[in-house]
Amino acid sequence: MENLDGLRDEVLASVGAAADLDALEGARISALGRKGRITALMKGLGALAADERRHAGQALNALQAEVVAAIARRKRELGRGELDARLAEERVDVTLPVRPGPSGRIHPISQTVDEVVAIFGEMGFQVAEGPDIEDDWYNFTALNIPPEHPARQEMDTFYLPGAKDGSRLVLRTHTSPVQIRTMQEHAPPLRIIVPGRTYRCDSDATHSPMFHQVEGLLVDESTHFGHLKGCLIEFCRAYFGIEDLPVRFRPSYFPFTEPSAEVDIGCSREAGELKIGRGGDWLEILGCGMVNPKVLENCGVDPARFQGFAFGMGLERIAMLKYGIADLRTFFDSDVRWLKHFGFAALDIPSLVGGLNR
Ligand code: DAH
Repeated sequence: MENLDGLRDEVLASVGAAADLDALEGARISALGRKGRITALMKGLGALAADERRHAGQALNALQAEVVAAIARRKRELGRGELDARLAEERVDVTLPVRPGPSGRIHPISQTVDEVVAIFGEMGFQVAEGPDIEDDWYNFTALNIPPEHPARQEMDTFYLPGAKDGSRLVLRTHTSPVQIRTMQEHAPPLRIIVPGRTYRCDSDATHSPMFHQVEGLLVDESTHFGHLKGCLIEFCRAYFGIEDLPVRFRPSYFPFTEPSAEVDIGCSREAGELKIGRGGDWLEILGCGMVNPKVLENCGVDPARFQGFAFGMGLERIAMLKYGIADLRTFFDSDVRWLKHFGFAALDIPSLVGGLNR
């Protein structure tokens, strides 16, 4: 029988040197596994003489027990070491400040534009835009508002300093001039929605010198007032998220439409509190009508062949109604506390599928 001391030293050294649990298992197998060195010696005991066998058997058993104990000890050491290593690696510094979430907010006007565009987009309308500075013809004359027409005074226009030829540029008083620009550039059929800034010399709790409107225009060969009604009723119900919202068309007058109407939605005003929905009372929210044939003509569209409908509404007004904002001027105060309260999370993307109501 070979010298067990040498074997003992080698095996214990390899156990002691095992740097991780895998290496330790390798050391165990090479000593005590089925084909291990100690196992092989034990298998060879049978070939020895009885006296020698007893002697060698005791020595081998002692060696086996010593190696098993050494492996167990090394295993505990390595286990503790691995835990320490993991703890060190995954250490969390609890004194670090909490990572702040995104703090920017979407302004309610941006949100409202997105909502309105989402609803009309579903109906096939495309977004169109035009300049904030218009000339008199686009803002008034082409829209059938001739000079000296009372509507010009009612609109409290901001005029830019006059040019030498006497023509005056204006800050557009409504988004309606974009109807003209679109019809000049594109042949019908047309279906556009125009969100944008508008300007009037007026300022109180419900007026701001700069505000926003959204204009709609649809022109086709067989368009009629029924289409206008269906489209706007659908819009009001989708925007306010009230399926049975009462919507009323009240005859009115605009120079650029004939016939014209104002649209009221149902509400209640109990105990001074305004609530949109069924309630027996009415609230005006937009103006609309069939495009005046004179306006079509002004844009080179044949009124004998084409007809259209148009509408316009104030975005602040419908945002105030939906989100309970009391004073229009607060939209433009740039008060961060206000924006935190009334603003929208950046990832709240409005869509009809996700639902437009919070
Ligand atoms: N331009 C009108 C205003 O500013 C709103 C309006 C009314 C627009 C009727 C339209 C319309 O297109 O058909 O008061």
